[in-house]
Amino acid sequence: MATYELPELPYDYDALEPVIDQRIMELHHDKHHQGYVDGANAALDKLEEMRGSGDFGDVRSVKRSLAFNLSGHVNHTVFWQNMHPDGGGEPGGDLASALDEHFGGFEGFKQDFSEAAKGVEGSGWGMLVYDHIADKPLVAAAENHQNQHPQGATPLLVCDVWEHAYYLQYENNRGEYVNNFWDVVNWDDVEQRYQQAQQADAIPKHTGAQ
Ligand SMILES: [Fe+2]
Repeated sequence: MATYELPELPYDYDALEPVIDQRIMELHHDKHHQGYVDGANAALDKLEEMRGSGDFGDVRSVKRSLAFNLSGHVNHTVFWQNMHPDGGGEPGGDLASALDEHFGGFEGFKQDFSEAAKGVEGSGWGMLVYDHIADKPLVAAAENHQNQHPQGATPLLVCDVWEHAYYLQYENNRGEYVNNFWDVVNWDDVEQRYQQAQQADAIPKHTGAQ
């Protein structure tokens, strides 16, 4: 039985129109995300084979494949839930307070995140993550799915800026896609992730900043 499975979209394929077209969602979820799920499972199978045979000649490429595909699976799983047809607006509660404290307000955060997403070199993601050591949200920009992602940080809000996420609809205008993304952000989901990340204490704080 496969370790990783493709989650169902939490809404219909056309639910995010006009921000994201139905066809993009069909291909993105059913083909691209499925590909990362399959790739991660294949990497695990290969590692099991290697342990069985004792031949670790491909270990570097298989570990690289595991990191790439599993990170793709994680990012897309969060991405689908980060969006909702009734999304948009601004966050409230503790998340709003945290954005005020660490980014000088929602607009400061939004600009930081947008510029990070638009500026990714090649394929990647704009990301709001929770850093457990400093107990604060950070904006990161991942290349591919896993590179330049702060180790151990929990994703709260992610924006896929691979061309497969927007090119059929926006062609080369990644900036317009990122600007429109804000209209479908599910802030209830982001807020819930922030609460859970704070409680998780995945990295004990005594190892880092006070
Ligand atoms: Fe994607």
